[in-house]
Amino acid sequence: MITVPLRHGSGESPYLLGEGILQELPRLLAPALGEGRAFVVSDDKVAALWGEVVAERLGAPLLSLPAGEQHKRWPAVEQVLRWLIGFGVERRDVLVAVGGGVITDLAGFAASVALRGIPWVAVPTTLLGMVDAAIGGKTGIDLEAGKNLVGTFWHPRAVVADPAVLATLDHRQVRAGLAEVVKAAMIAPGLLAHHLDGELGEVARGHRRPSAEAIAAAVRVKADIVAADERDAGPRAALNLGHTLGHALEAATRYERFLHGEAVAWGLLEALLLALESGLVETPAARGWAARLECLRPLPPLADLSWELLAPYLHRDKKRAGGTVGWVLPRQGGVTLGVAVAEERVAAAFSRLRNLAPEASFSSLF
Ligand SMILES: NC(=O)c1ccc[n+]([C@@H]2O[C@H](COP(=O)([O-])OP(=O)(O)OC[C@H]3O[C@@H](n4cnc5c(N)ncnc54)[C@H](O)[C@@H]3O)[C@@H](O)[C@H]2O)c1
Ligand SMILES: [Zn+2]
Repeated sequence: MITVPLRHGSGESPYLLGEGILQELPRLLAPALGEGRAFVVSDDKVAALWGEVVAERLGAPLLSLPAGEQHKRWPAVEQVLRWLIGFGVERRDVLVAVGGGVITDLAGFAASVALRGIPWVAVPTTLLGMVDAAIGGKTGIDLEAGKNLVGTFWHPRAVVADPAVLATLDHRQVRAGLAEVVKAAMIAPGLLAHHLDGELGEVARGHRRPSAEAIAAAVRVKADIVAADERDAGPRAALNLGHTLGHALEAATRYERFLHGEAVAWGLLEALLLALESGLVETPAARGWAARLECLRPLPPLADLSWELLAPYLHRDKKRAGGTVGWVLPRQGGVTLGVAVAEERVAAAFSRLRNLAPEASFSSLF
């Protein structure tokens, strides 16, 4: 088993990883549970596969919520709170979230407001959940007006990730999660590239599961950045690599065409094109990352998305940042934050992605 310490303002939480470790959950969670009772929250897809097993092993009641981002809303939070209160929940009790990022965000948020805050534990069951959503203490829900507009910083007391659960995850979801792993590798190549290159191709083709070692390396990248900037005031922006275009692609297609990671994969290519033009990376390095991103294909197409459609969504990000779109761009050995890039250059790079023939390789862009 691998343990990655997650450091934060209220102390340190262990992130435990290993193939098969869900079988030992009661022992692993004993320190996190202390004298408290466990309550398990999952979604109605994951409950039957993994949530029920976890609840049974912990001797805990299980609440199954409707699956999907469209249910990451107030009503589900209220459902969790009523359920907990119905059991006479006490402040020492622990909410255990078993699911993807939707469930860990939502359950973490419910835990942060139940009785003004009870402890929680994340058991992420998607690759994205393991390498991203379960780390960093951000919890939350969506509003009509946008995603993640309501939330808290409330770190889980422990995270337990068992790659074995990825066996039941839709392969497209696994590939999309890999985009965040490639992103982490671009942010901190020294920590991750070696693990990634050993298995990326095979995992992307569905021939094997990601190893606990590779997941742990990606976890360390995010954990290090978050520890340095818990409240998202500066360096944490590095994690937005590939997300400026990625978020715009998702929003412009009403969150229907791309899985988050798929949009981020296109966003990483855009960032590489801009970085190459700015002299931040050289051609061989850019081609190396493009070859890794190639493994994530097929990605949903861009061909019918005009710049006119997309640009307003990029500007929305700009407003939030207070004036300019500060691009996070790759450079040799890491990333550079807050790079100002003229809109014509962004548009030109996007049109190169859009016009790339389906049979042409990503490396041929560089
Ligand atoms: N808090 C953060 O810092 C942070 C970071 C990144 C993303 N997020 C959030 O994470 C969410 C996306 O997470 P996600 O991609 O995990 O989506 P998700 O939770 O919706 O899971 C994707 C789908 O896979 C199913 N599923 C999950 N695990 C499974 C398994 N092992 N086997 C079979 N099916 C399984 C789910 O039921 C769902 O239908 C978004 O709401 C996003 O805002 C949060
Ligand atoms: Zn992301």
